[in-house]
Amino acid sequence: MTDTKLRTSRMHLLFILPLVLEVQSISMNHNFTCDCSCHMELKSANCTNSNFSRLPIALPPFTEQLDLSHNNLSAIQPRAFQTTRRLRVLFLNDNAIYMLADGAFYLLEDLLRLDLSRNRISSLSEGFSQGLSSLRDLSLAENRLTSLNSSCFVHLDSLQRLNLSNNAIETIKMRAFGSMSTLRQIHLAWNNITVLKNGIFSMLRNLEILNLHHNRIDSLDVGVLSPLTSLALLDLTNNSLSTIQFKTFLSLNTYSTHIMLENNPLKRDCDLQRVLRKLCNVKRLFLDDYNEICPNLDELDPCIGEMVTVLVITVTVVITVVAAIVMAEKKRGKRNKEKHWTEASELSCASQLN
Ligand SMILES: *[C@@H]1O[C@H](CO)[C@@H](O)[C@H](O)[C@H]1NC(C)=O
Repeated sequence: MTDTKLRTSRMHLLFILPLVLEVQSISMNHNFTCDCSCHMELKSANCTNSNFSRLPIALPPFTEQLDLSHNNLSAIQPRAFQTTRRLRVLFLNDNAIYMLADGAFYLLEDLLRLDLSRNRISSLSEGFSQGLSSLRDLSLAENRLTSLNSSCFVHLDSLQRLNLSNNAIETIKMRAFGSMSTLRQIHLAWNNITVLKNGIFSMLRNLEILNLHHNRIDSLDVGVLSPLTSLALLDLTNNSLSTIQFKTFLSLNTYSTHIMLENNPLKRDCDLQRVLRKLCNVKRLFLDDYNEICPNLDELDPCIGEMVTVLVITVTVVITVVAAIVMAEKKRGKRNKEKHWTEASELSCASQLN
C-alpha cells in the first residue's frame, strides 16, 4: 500500500522534473530578442548612446528598467511602450524629443520614474500623462516649456517629485498642480516666473519643498502660500523681490518652514526691517541667512535713523516756537515801555502847559 503510494509520487516527480528543467533552460538561454544590451536577471535594458531615432525597439517584455538616454529620439508616438508594460524606470533624457503624443506612455501602470530632461519639449498636452497613475518622479528639466496650464498634469495621481527646472516658464495657470495632492517637491528654479498668483498652489497640502530660485519673481499674492501646510523649505533666492509682506509668510500654517530670500533687491528700509523683525518672532518660520538679507541690521538700524530725523524735526519746531514766543514777549515788553514813555512825556508836557 505504502509502496504504491511512493511509486506514484516518484512518477509525478519524473513528469514534473523535465518541465522544470525546460522552463529553466528558456531563461538560461535568453531566448528573447533584444536590440540593446539586456540584463535578464536585473530586468534591465541599456540602450543609451545608440543613435536610435525611433521606437519601438525590440526588448524583453519583462524589462523593468529601460535606459534610452543620449539617443536621437524626436517624437514619442501613442502607446510607444506597449510591448514593455512592466516598466518601472524609463530614461528618455538627452534626446531631441519635441513631441509627446497623447497616450505616449499609455499602459505603463507600474512606471515609477520617468526622466525627460534635456529634450526640446515646449508644451504638454492633457493626454501626455495618460496611464501614468503610479508615477512618483517626473523630470522635465532643461526643456522649452513656457507655461503650465491647468490640464498639464491631470493624470499623475501619485506624483511626489516634479522637476521643471531650467525651462522658460513664465506663467503658471490656476490649478496647474491641481490634482497632485501627493506632491512633495516642485523644482521650478531657473525659469522666468514673475508673479505667484493666489490659487496656483491650492491642493498641495503635502508639498515639502518649493524651489523657485533664479526666477524674476517681484510679487507674491498675500494668500498664495496659505494652502502649503507641510512646506519645510521655500527657496526664493535670486529673484526680484523689492518688498515682502508680513501676512504673505504669516499665512504659512506649518510646523516649521525655512524661507530663503538672499539675493533679492530688497529695499533695506524701515518697513522691511519691521517685517523681518516680526517674521523672526514667528516661532515656526526660519529666515535663512537673515544677515545676508539685511547686512549690518543691528549696526545700521534704519529705524534709529528715522527716529533721529523725527527728533531733529521736533526739536527744531520746539526751538522755533519758543524763539517766537520769546521774541513776541520781548516786543510786547518794548512796546509797553514805549507806551509808558509816551504816556510819561505826554503827562510832563501837560504839566508844563499848565
Ligand atoms: C532638477 O533638474 C536639474 C537639472 O536641470 C538638476 O540640476 C537638479 O538637481 C534636479 N533636482 C532634483 C531635486 O532632482
